[in-house]
Amino acid sequence: MVVLFYSDIDDPRPWRAALARALPELDFRVWPDIGRPEEIDYALVWKPPGGMLASLPRLKAILSLGAGVDHLFLDAQLPAGVPITRMVDAGLAPQMSEYAMYGVLHFHRCMDRYAIMQREGLWKQLPAIPPAQRTIGVMGLGVLGGDFACKAQVMGFHVIGWSRRAHGLEGVGEYHGADGLAAFLAATQILVNFLPLTPETHGILDRALFARLPRGAFLVNLARGGHLVEDDLVAALDSGQLGGAMLDVFVQEPLPEGHAFWRHPRIVVTPHIAGLAIAELMVEQVVDNIMRLERGETPTGLVDRRRGY
Ligand code: NAP
Ligand code: GLV
Repeated sequence: MVVLFYSDIDDPRPWRAALARALPELDFRVWPDIGRPEEIDYALVWKPPGGMLASLPRLKAILSLGAGVDHLFLDAQLPAGVPITRMVDAGLAPQMSEYAMYGVLHFHRCMDRYAIMQREGLWKQLPAIPPAQRTIGVMGLGVLGGDFACKAQVMGFHVIGWSRRAHGLEGVGEYHGADGLAAFLAATQILVNFLPLTPETHGILDRALFARLPRGAFLVNLARGGHLVEDDLVAALDSGQLGGAMLDVFVQEPLPEGHAFWRHPRIVVTPHIAGLAIAELMVEQVVDNIMRLERGETPTGLVDRRRGY
């Protein structure tokens, strides 16, 4: 069995070692040293170059190195009919929830304002708001958003969520679909985005959405840069409609030099680190999926191409 690895950011060495321990007979090849293209069974990839997957004539499945698969749909030659899987947690959920909680606490505990006060040498205690009086709105209640919604609730926050279908998360006020969005936003004080990037969600974090949030609300975006209309965010922050934003993902990554976000006083920037791929934690799911596919069974995280996630 031959697995081809491609990533523009992940080091193949831990993957080679982890896969060799789990499946010693597996032949692990790293792009561009692929040998004969017709020998490749599985492609384990992050942001593969357009046309790369189409050049593998006997590909049995495309395994995304992340939870998101939008990077695959950018390829105009993405082979039709080849199953696509995504990572289902596989070590991402704890990291993503940590990041989201860090973002929530940054704004909830006024750390943005205390950082400014420190620079000014100003000693002043700002009023405290109990977590039960702070409403966190979680967009996307899937594997990662659902994990965070439950953990935020344990911390005592009032948590509501928005998704397409009901998830029945205990204690989480759920809103669904286009009809539920306005009421969800009207109640949200800190908006945390966990949506997948699809044609339906592209540009969803725009001026119209920000206008529906209570004045001074905060945004934590750790899903995808394509969800956010960047100029609309700057306008909402500058007008005071939004109080601050913590952003891990961007339309263009790395965030270009000179981009307005780098120096904006109300924006915290991190370099797409909310959920990193840790080979040791992901390898079990990859191996299990290869075994399932070899047996003709449904793999974990099978992507619905029509939905786009
Ligand atoms: P998931 O389990 O598929 O959950 C997606 C959630 O979004 C589901 O609740 C889904 O609703 C909801 N949703 C999708 N389209 C919607 C729409 N049009 N309207 C309302 N709700 C919609 O995905 P996941 O594993 O939680 O991952 C979420 C995303 O996190 C990934 O796609 C990726 O972009 C991002 N991510 C970022 C990082 C990072 O480092 N920054 C790391 C990992 C993942 P239903 O439940 O009704 O289907
Ligand atoms: C990272 O962004 C992922 O989708 O796992």
